Amino acid sequence: MKYLPVDEHLFTNNRKNFVSRIKPNSIAIFYSNDEFPRSGDQAFIFKQNPDFFYLSGIDQEQSILVLYPECPNSQYREVLFLRQTNEHIAIWEGHKYTKEEARAASGIENVYWLSEFDAIFHSIVNYADNIYINTNENDRFSFSVPYRDLRMLDELRVKYPLHHYERSATIMRELRPVKSDIEIALTKKACGITRDAFVRVLKFVKPGVAEYEIEAEIIHEFIRQRATGHAYNPIIGSGKNAIVLHYIDNNQVCKEGEVILLDFGAEYANYNADMTRSIPVSGRFTQRQRDVYDAVLRVMRAATKMIVAGAVWNEYHEEVGKIMTAELIGLGLLDKHAVEKQDPKMPLYKKYFMHGTSHHLGLDVHDFAGRYTPFQAGNILTCEPGIYIPEEGLGIRLENNILITKDGNVDLMADIPVEADEIESIMNS
Ligand code: GLY
Ligand code: MN
Ligand code: MN
Repeated sequence: MKYLPVDEHLFTNNRKNFVSRIKPNSIAIFYSNDEFPRSGDQAFIFKQNPDFFYLSGIDQEQSILVLYPECPNSQYREVLFLRQTNEHIAIWEGHKYTKEEARAASGIENVYWLSEFDAIFHSIVNYADNIYINTNENDRFSFSVPYRDLRMLDELRVKYPLHHYERSATIMRELRPVKSDIEIALTKKACGITRDAFVRVLKFVKPGVAEYEIEAEIIHEFIRQRATGHAYNPIIGSGKNAIVLHYIDNNQVCKEGEVILLDFGAEYANYNADMTRSIPVSGRFTQRQRDVYDAVLRVMRAATKMIVAGAVWNEYHEEVGKIMTAELIGLGLLDKHAVEKQDPKMPLYKKYFMHGTSHHLGLDVHDFAGRYTPFQAGNILTCEPGIYIPEEGLGIRLENNILITKDGNVDLMADIPVEADEIESIMNS
């Protein structure tokens, strides 16, 4: 890992919160992510399962966490199983956790090698009534590939058919959206690295530069500051490419007169930033670009004010839709009379602003959270309105990351340039 050690209290507290919510006499089992093949001779770079990291702090493949707070054998109430390294692994793959290092990273005293898992698990599981399994219930995406927890569930059901099986996900969905101080600090770090990369880009961009050259500047800044890399595939879309919401080709040349939409964020210690800025290739917006830009910025400012504890998803999105509608009328993109007659289920603003305004942010970029749960203090949400006008070859989106506190919110990206004047002034400095 490139990042500095994370305070193990984060993981110790998370485990404490998790076990306080499970049914009496239950055992919970969590697996690290699979290593996925990338080609005939390589795996993709390993990425830890977010729940596994949240509860263990262990950032290594082939690891298992077992939590059984009422285990009759006190040695096995909290146990970590790790891949045992050897001379061959050390030479070919490099360093793996020693038991001491795993204890320090996780705060878990009882660390064993993976080869001991079957015997130890079998010696305790039959004293438990319930087995908690961690299925992926993040409804922001759906996967068709069976992952390790699911495959292990099949095996466990065959071996232990009369236990009750329970979902860890319902507990994780309650815990993960409410960020602790350590998680907030890690997210701030990811935002700070993202800011520095953006300022670097502002000083770098000029007509004729290619989208991939901008991408290279960003990753340079990320890696030199110990980020693992991009939190997601960066979007560097100049001109009409900005209208493709998930544009990641990043292979075109940026031309004088165009606006570039940059949606990127650093991943630091598995925590993510998610920022969007839109900047003029030439260093100056045209009047029309500036009008659209300021409209998006006003929507972002108004929406940010609504990201407070107690707000409800649907109502929030409906309110943002109304503000956006007024801006689109002001820009001459929507007709006031047509809006008065619109079908409320299909509001006209969606022609120019077709995505949601916010999502939770954390260990997942679209973080695991209940979509029917009102916002709470400790949530980190994005705020990302945009206006996309295909007929003008113009797409503008702005995105900041907002922490909800008990008495309002804090913009974790408040120090990243966003006013059009400031953007222009840095580009021309
Ligand atoms: N970059 C992904 C998103 O903004 O949701
Ligand atoms: Mn984004
Ligand atoms: Mn986002």
